Amino acid sequence: MAEARAPGKAILFGEHAVVYGHPAVAVAIKAGVQVAVSVNKEWAVEGRPLDPTRHPHLKSIISRMPRESGTYSFQISSTLFSAAGQGSSAALSVAAHLALRKQIGEISSTIDAAKSAHLAEADAQSGRASPTDTATSALGGCIVVSSSLPPIAKHVFSAELKTSEGLRKWDVGTVDLQDDSNPPSLVLGFTGNSSKTGKMVAMVADLISSNPKKKHDLDSIGEITEVGLIALASSQWEAVGMAMNACHDRLVSLNLSTPHLERLIESVRPYSFGAKLTGAGGGGCMMALTKEPARVAQMIELCGAKAMISPLHNKGAQILG
Ligand code: MEV
Repeated sequence: MAEARAPGKAILFGEHAVVYGHPAVAVAIKAGVQVAVSVNKEWAVEGRPLDPTRHPHLKSIISRMPRESGTYSFQISSTLFSAAGQGSSAALSVAAHLALRKQIGEISSTIDAAKSAHLAEADAQSGRASPTDTATSALGGCIVVSSSLPPIAKHVFSAELKTSEGLRKWDVGTVDLQDDSNPPSLVLGFTGNSSKTGKMVAMVADLISSNPKKKHDLDSIGEITEVGLIALASSQWEAVGMAMNACHDRLVSLNLSTPHLERLIESVRPYSFGAKLTGAGGGGCMMALTKEPARVAQMIELCGAKAMISPLHNKGAQILG
């Protein structure tokens, strides 16, 4: 048996705009997905034959396994909210890639895992997927993804994808966050309504083609992200919060928020540097950056959502054995 674990992610700035080449900044969170694989007479998940419609990401990861490498059973455990904007499918894909490669005795780097998992996300999102979630889950820490990386980021790898809107290219880099003796925490609030990333990304593509002026919102998210990243790298938390709030306004303009997300965000802003929806939107999660995580978590729960507190800095994917 081989086992691997990969964390979920929270996007501080840049979701949706990154699909079009603008920068996005994401951090790995504490919660994640653990995958164990063992030899089996057929591909299976939790003791049942693998159903590709239920597990499109696993199907895609398997399609890149070397021929004649056998069939395996997956056991999956997750501390992430599912289909909630926390990168659960990216974490599943990264952990499954690493566990399978370890099981067949092949050495695979976290960069290989990020690349294979990105292709799995693209397969599941009709070709429109940036490498943000998968790179953050694989590499951990703070990740920047952009068609052209800002100088503050250290380049790690490049990715490209053919989409119905043309060829997209991204560079993936890491950013070192300064040591801060009392850093803020992230608090994520799950509305309880799952949302499909592929559907939300397609909705934005349709909105832009029917109303090209809406592209300004994506351009503006790109500009805010650049400013927010500089604030983040120098621990200027008030400025980070302002950039988060400004990104959220543009996501609202792209019809990505919901009344429940708005209630949650409004209720935590008095106790936070900033709060916004995170991930694909249309349900899923909001997040707050705060030095009062217990109070913010309580506000979230009072508004009928589930709260999760995470430190700002977390490790990437790991092979467990
Ligand atoms: C989803 O977590 C982030 C999106 O920007 C999609 C993507 O980057 O592939 C909405």
